[in-house]
Amino acid sequence: MRHWGKDILLTRRGLIVYGAGFVVARAAPAGLTPTPHQTPGPFYPTAKPVDSDADLTRVNGITGQASGKIIEISGRVLSVRGFALGRSRVEIWQADAHGRYYDSRDRNQANSRDGNFQGYGAARASEDGAYRFRTIYPASYGSGAYRRTPHIHFRVYDEKHGELVTQLYFPDEPMNGQDAVFLSLPGAMARTAVTARLVSGGAVPRFSFDLVLA
Ligand SMILES: [Fe+2]
Repeated sequence: MRHWGKDILLTRRGLIVYGAGFVVARAAPAGLTPTPHQTPGPFYPTAKPVDSDADLTRVNGITGQASGKIIEISGRVLSVRGFALGRSRVEIWQADAHGRYYDSRDRNQANSRDGNFQGYGAARASEDGAYRFRTIYPASYGSGAYRRTPHIHFRVYDEKHGELVTQLYFPDEPMNGQDAVFLSLPGAMARTAVTARLVSGGAVPRFSFDLVLA
């Protein structure tokens, strides 16, 4: 029973986070769960790489390919009413296969950065809200209580709906259950909303991740 009060607190936080969504859901039964906000973390690149397209596994002018497991992430940018937010801007940034970020403030000296990995990418969603990135499965990084499960940072900007900053997590990733940022999300619905879905396996696994702006 000691956790009862905490659960209520978490539920209240959930109601605050999802308050707008619930209102919309009552007005429109097909309402979608807004993707929860998450911290941008310390490594959103202050200086973007010259090559910042949607393929993070290749860097212009370098013949090598990024280390690590290549994956594809695709999805749609949507409003809570399910309308496509076409032409919205989607950015991602993430750790490379060595757990390093592109940003110069990442001073993790234990591993050198993978120069074949772009680290950051940006894309414009199509008219139907679709976006796609080719990247690698990120390494975990950090230690102790600050150890992070593999994740990809997202920033989405739509002229009408504004900005969403969040993080993508992977399904069946055992480290999710020990990650403080993931666990800070209030309950299963919020955690599911930031967890990508495996669409197909094979040589280049494809994950689906929709971004729903409140
Ligand atoms: Fe991160």
